[in-house]
Amino acid sequence: MQNQQIVLSGRPNGMVKANDMALHSAPAPELHEGQLLVKNHFLSVDPAIRYWLNAGMTYIRGVDIGEPVRCFAAGEVVASRADGFFVGQWVTGLFGAQEYAISDGSGVVRCDPADGSLSLHLGVLGMPGMTAYFGLLDKGQPQAGEVVFVSGAAGVVGTTVGQIARLKGCRVIGSAGSDEKCRYLVEAGFDAAFNYKTEGTDAALKRLAPGGVHIYFDNVGGDTLDAALLNLARGARVVICGALSQYNESAYAGPKNYMKILTARGILTGLIVFDYALQWPTAVRELAGWLREGKVSTREVIEPGLKHFPDALVRLYQGGAFGKLLVAV
Ligand SMILES: NC(=O)c1ccc[n+]([C@@H]2O[C@H](COP(=O)([O-])OP(=O)(O)OC[C@H]3O[C@@H](n4cnc5c(N)ncnc54)[C@H](OP(=O)(O)O)[C@@H]3O)[C@@H](O)[C@H]2O)c1
Repeated sequence: MQNQQIVLSGRPNGMVKANDMALHSAPAPELHEGQLLVKNHFLSVDPAIRYWLNAGMTYIRGVDIGEPVRCFAAGEVVASRADGFFVGQWVTGLFGAQEYAISDGSGVVRCDPADGSLSLHLGVLGMPGMTAYFGLLDKGQPQAGEVVFVSGAAGVVGTTVGQIARLKGCRVIGSAGSDEKCRYLVEAGFDAAFNYKTEGTDAALKRLAPGGVHIYFDNVGGDTLDAALLNLARGARVVICGALSQYNESAYAGPKNYMKILTARGILTGLIVFDYALQWPTAVRELAGWLREGKVSTREVIEPGLKHFPDALVRLYQGGAFGKLLVAV
């Protein structure tokens, strides 16, 4: 049996290109004692993939040339010689951009079909949903009546942050890169949204949050982070979740206005969702409940076919899709 894969064919320089990756066929992996074989059904197209394509070590090793591109995937166990895993079980994990993956079970999440469809376990019920949940509730500590500003708001992390913040009684402002995305955010329950491509973030925050922002949930970094720092309320929390504006740059721009943290008596804190792995099941149950009750909603864009994975990754950075971007294998 052959295993179709998308491998890294060249190290990206600046903006990732589809031809940094290539379709490759390899023999399907052999199953050994203690392992499970997963047939991937959906690949998750996440911003961090670009970061993982850089050489060297950050919080995770960079993908090697010739190796399948690292990504989260959702699939079904098709053979198991590992305790606790059975054929037909739904699982998610860092299975890579390929049809079949072998795993020893570490980092593999077992999904309950009762919580939602398999693809949802890569979005609002998966790693991005967990990022929103723990990033906002644990790092942001929202209090009713506070103002929360979320950038990159039309992605699954941002929209979920905004919706949870509303459930906690906060006033929520989002920024996104088109008027259509902003309309979607207001329909999804945000109090206000602005298009950062047509209105500067500083001006928009002065208009929409004249008393300042209590929580800034930062998905993009760069100039947006700097503008948010100018608009902090006293005691504000700034949650550094991601840096969408920086991942394709060779050097990341740091914040110039960091002294505003001092004057606001604020907190600047970083988030790695994997630190909460042991608490994921509780969060999945709560998010699944909110989804069923219609308190949280989500949007998926599913590209058909493994071979479209490289184009989908490029499209993610062009802002061409919003909600959760997936590739059906
Ligand atoms: N810390 C953690 O553990 C953790 C875990 C998961 C995710 N994250 C981070 O969470 C953030 C959101 O993730 P997501 O999956 O929901 O992503 P996403 O919003 O779906 O990412 C794609 C979007 O990024 C925006 N974008 C692209 N280039 C940009 C630029 N130069 N400046 C500003 N925005 C740009 C585009 O939206 P617009 O059209 O609106 O610009 C695009 O549609 C990312 O930074 C990700 O790395 C962190």
